[in-house]
Amino acid sequence: MVITISSSKPFSNTSSNMIASKPKLLYQKTSETLFYLIRNQVLSLSNVAAPKFENSLKLPSLPVPILSQSIEKYIKTVTPFLSEAELNNTKKILKEFSSENGIGTKLQKLLVQKAQNSENWLADWWLNNAYLGYRDPVVIYSSPGLVFPFEDFINETDRLTYTAQLILAAVEYKKAIYSDKIPVDKMGKEPLDMNQYKQIFGTCRIPGQKLDGLEYNSDSRHIVIVKNNNFFKLEVINRNGEVPSLSQLINHLEMILLESAEVGPPIGVLSTENRDNWNKAYTELIKDPVNKKSVDEIQKSLFLVALDNPMPELNDSRMSMASKQFIHGGGSRGNSANRWFDKTVQFIIGQDGTVGLTYEHSPSEGQPIAVMTDYLVDYIKNNASSGLEDIKLEHWPEKLEFNVSENVSKYIQAANIHIDKLVDNLDMDSFKFTSFGKEFVKSQKLSPDSFLQIAMQYAFYRIHKVPGAHYESAATRKYIHGRTETIRSCSIESIAFAKAMLDTGKSDAERVAALKEAIASHKKYSIEAVNGFGVDRHFLGLKLIALENGLELPEIYSDPSFTRSTHMRLSTSQVATKCDGFMCYAPLTADGYGCCYNPRPHDINFGVSAFAEHPDTSAKQFREALESSLLDMHNVLAKTQKAKL
Ligand code: COA
Repeated sequence: MVITISSSKPFSNTSSNMIASKPKLLYQKTSETLFYLIRNQVLSLSNVAAPKFENSLKLPSLPVPILSQSIEKYIKTVTPFLSEAELNNTKKILKEFSSENGIGTKLQKLLVQKAQNSENWLADWWLNNAYLGYRDPVVIYSSPGLVFPFEDFINETDRLTYTAQLILAAVEYKKAIYSDKIPVDKMGKEPLDMNQYKQIFGTCRIPGQKLDGLEYNSDSRHIVIVKNNNFFKLEVINRNGEVPSLSQLINHLEMILLESAEVGPPIGVLSTENRDNWNKAYTELIKDPVNKKSVDEIQKSLFLVALDNPMPELNDSRMSMASKQFIHGGGSRGNSANRWFDKTVQFIIGQDGTVGLTYEHSPSEGQPIAVMTDYLVDYIKNNASSGLEDIKLEHWPEKLEFNVSENVSKYIQAANIHIDKLVDNLDMDSFKFTSFGKEFVKSQKLSPDSFLQIAMQYAFYRIHKVPGAHYESAATRKYIHGRTETIRSCSIESIAFAKAMLDTGKSDAERVAALKEAIASHKKYSIEAVNGFGVDRHFLGLKLIALENGLELPEIYSDPSFTRSTHMRLSTSQVATKCDGFMCYAPLTADGYGCCYNPRPHDINFGVSAFAEHPDTSAKQFREALESSLLDMHNVLAKTQKAKL
């Protein structure tokens, strides 16, 4: 094997001669554009210029729904959570709100004006309020894990070979994105906004006080490998734009492995902290120029690859263990410091063949990450890196050094305590449902996604005997810079169906009729949501425009209809991959569940979570209820069909 390197010795910490690419775009706090209010905050920044996909410029702008229509929809969706008297009061408040001189009518006009002057009236608000201004840690509270199909590594050589293939696949994919060669995603026949793809590689979140930043460095030519808490810079594209051969890369990874035998200082654990704490630690950390240089290299890298140690022993299935490894890393006794959680993409390679990633959610939704995953898995399966030849590289792998001051050490101790608490509180029961997949549901002439959502509603109701407010993400990417809208899956019909299933006095025919009504109602809301006509983003827009104009928050935002219907005890999304993988994340509320699912033709992967501390919930309990619900629904359909024959 020929390794051609033109720079000095390996692991030298001298500054490299790589042309430092300046951060191209940076969200910065500016006093004119930052609005911060204590209880209800509007965070707004001027510069939302991330790298763009040309095609998206032709897409339409996100519409502002008509106020009366949103109110009608809202009333329907809050009905399951209210008594008759409460519902009447909500209707009264909304009547006043939307009257000719009502505050809602005024806010609607202001929102329409804002929309006329922007490509997407929600995009900046959403980024800043849902993500960059949110102060809880990204770990558990925001960043999902994505579990790839399991590999079986017999030894470290197997692991390094896979890692090298994965790196090459990701670099190829990055190049394809930037030469506009990846296919445009579609919903039916309609093209979707592809901008999120351009923010996957080279992006990093930067901790701030009250508001974080995002930095884009998509023309970087290096990645960062982390092993035993030691960070290494690794060149993966040379000056000519060429990528190394598989054997060159394996050789470099072997060097890194040798150099990382000793456990490094757990600097990475700082990125698991609450964002304001992290900002303080970060400010302290980068005071030292050695640390500053290392942090810069991490932030500017295209992506990070974590070679993990085994996870602490737990009595979990492999799928649940993998979910935890990718969501949080196992805490201070595990791999939580073997990360930089602000990096948009961190691939994680376990010793035993548990492979996947975690991603920082602010620049992208799950679906582009899932599409990328299928590309990577196919690339490795097809051994697509086998034709690559050795190239001239400029740099040996370089260890990124850190000096740990007494103050930084205190921040690390605090971060260790905090992450261990979070880790202990996450309860997962991820599983593969094998009795049927989406083909069965389609054969019943029903929507698979709606069927699964109604199964979750039924599972929740059979455990708790009360309606569960239920968030499902719908993509609004048919609009320029579109992100998501909420599908409110809990409906009058979903509760009627759950009750019918649990009522021994109901016939199977009545249950099937209730099921079909619940599915139809969910499907109708889904279609409205993907077209930008849900309730939640519109109500958020009205609230934020009120705050931005210094107006008092309207009464509806403190009404029980609002607080109960937005206390999302079920946080769910479909993230579909062709490969046998799945996404997973924590619940949105202390008394809730997370349930991310990948409906495949003949099976369904579920990532199920709950918080261990809450006495009313358990991931195992939800998993069992969901499995039973799916089987009950299948059986009731099958029985009524037989009866017809
Ligand atoms: N009879 C037969 N087939 C049907 C059917 C029916 N009544 N209804 C739907 N189908 C088919 C569809 O044609 C489709 O077929 P295909 O697999 O050949 O394309 C398939 O079933 C799936 O459709 P459905 O289950 O209804 O929903 P969907 O795949 O369109 O997904 C959403 C719905 C809301 C999940 C999707 O629009 C979306 O927004 N996805 C993004 C979610 C997201 O943002 N996730 C990331 C969060 S981080």
